Amino acid sequence: MVKICCIGAGYVGGPTMAVIALKCPKIEVVVVDIFEPRIIAWNSDQLPIYEPGLDDVVKKCRGKNLFFSKDVEKHVAEADIVFVSVNTPTKTQGLGAGKAADLTYWESAARMIADVSKSDKIVVEKSTVPVKTAEAIEKILTHNSKGINFQILSNPEFLAEGTAIQDLFNPDRVLIGGRETPEGQKAIQALKDVYAHWVPAERIICTNLWSAELSKLAANAFLAQRISSVNAMSALCEATGADVSEVSHAIGKDTRIGPKFLNASVGFGGSCFQKDILNLVYICECNGLSEVANYWKQVVQVNEYQKTRFVNRVVSSMFNTVSGKKIAILGFAFKKDTGDTRETPAIGVCQGLLGDKAILSIYDPQVPQELIQRDLSMHKSELDKPPHLRPMNSVAIEQVTCVGDAYEATKGAHGICILTEWDEFKTLDYKKIYNNMNKPAFVFDGRNLVDIDKLRQIGFIVYSIGKPLDAWLKDMPAVA
Ligand code: NAI
Repeated sequence: MVKICCIGAGYVGGPTMAVIALKCPKIEVVVVDIFEPRIIAWNSDQLPIYEPGLDDVVKKCRGKNLFFSKDVEKHVAEADIVFVSVNTPTKTQGLGAGKAADLTYWESAARMIADVSKSDKIVVEKSTVPVKTAEAIEKILTHNSKGINFQILSNPEFLAEGTAIQDLFNPDRVLIGGRETPEGQKAIQALKDVYAHWVPAERIICTNLWSAELSKLAANAFLAQRISSVNAMSALCEATGADVSEVSHAIGKDTRIGPKFLNASVGFGGSCFQKDILNLVYICECNGLSEVANYWKQVVQVNEYQKTRFVNRVVSSMFNTVSGKKIAILGFAFKKDTGDTRETPAIGVCQGLLGDKAILSIYDPQVPQELIQRDLSMHKSELDKPPHLRPMNSVAIEQVTCVGDAYEATKGAHGICILTEWDEFKTLDYKKIYNNMNKPAFVFDGRNLVDIDKLRQIGFIVYSIGKPLDAWLKDMPAVA
């Protein structure tokens, strides 16, 4: 029986290993983590992350061939294949601060693998790492290896939070990079055999190590670039009377462009896009490619611009001040169907409004109050860390309350900001909401989710990203 151990029981390690266990009943899979509360939660009925379909998968195999343990060293020592799925945030201090990937967690995992191993192992990079990381990992492993053979593979994960289980069941592709030696090829085959239990052979791509490592950074850069491109267009649409949805539809019909990932919004978030692009920028700079670095840097800058533009639009529409006004924030997670708030655009928007002394009433179906308050009281450099690694110096912010539903959040509010595209916000009783709000009542839709015409008929003044402005907003232009 092949034994797999995964170091890191987070958003990637947990769901990925659960699906491997489900699809490969003859493989024993143990997910380990140094953060004990996370392991306790994985072994309970309240899993540590919210992901549609995840509960079912875990329930089907936990205790059979899927285990969660804090006994990291024991399970690493026993495994044939060790996945490393630890966090790789942006460095906050020292060389490359603010851009380079912080590989502290990775390095300590590699040193531990070297220390405890007594048999040959395949070590799989599941985390997103800078290109050439495998070379450094190889050095750490072989330096301490006592004659043990380690093969390093790069197997980046392409799942998206919110659709992780669906993505893992039916991936567009699985990418495996390894050394071009006979041992390297044998290791690739061993990992291929795992995925071949459910992924069609033509969707398993094998490359050299560096191509696999770089492809993950490139994929995230391209995805984020699409969002920044359409968001840049949204600003021009508002200035000219074009409608960004119509423009997206029209350009998406071109098969070279394609229709997906062309929705304008308040900006992208999540733990990956920004950190991976900044990492790419850093790698380009280190390789003397400043023009390439500047090109990708702009993707992040447009994302910042979009959030600022949104805040400015809210403030300028409401007579140039939100001081003392209640603003309802609907949605705080960085996208729907997840409770993850790392780098969510809601943080920047809320902080912007708080800076203008707004009173915020926040509702998100999956994000607990404690996390929202911690996020809003934190420094930007800490925001891509998982909640338990974020500092505990948070103080409850007087201007912020978190409530249990959208109706409570909007009661007595002057304006509503929709910041996450949760389905339930589409079917709210907006007439009832309007009746309970201060007038004029504003809706600022950062996800283009509501029916603008219907809301305008009710009496709302509605701003939707990249859509033609109504007369009120035209008279109060927002300067970004
Ligand atoms: P996460 O922060 O949710 O989980 C990482 C876990 O690793 C934490 O629970 C932490 O306690 C644990 N850990 C750190 N050092 C450890 C050690 N030495 N021994 C044992 N456990 C240790 O991170 P997430 O979101 O799962 O991301 C992991 C990697 O996957 C990152 O490199 C990320 O860029 C990449 N990725 C993330 C995706 C996402 O949607 N979240 C998608 C694709 C890739």
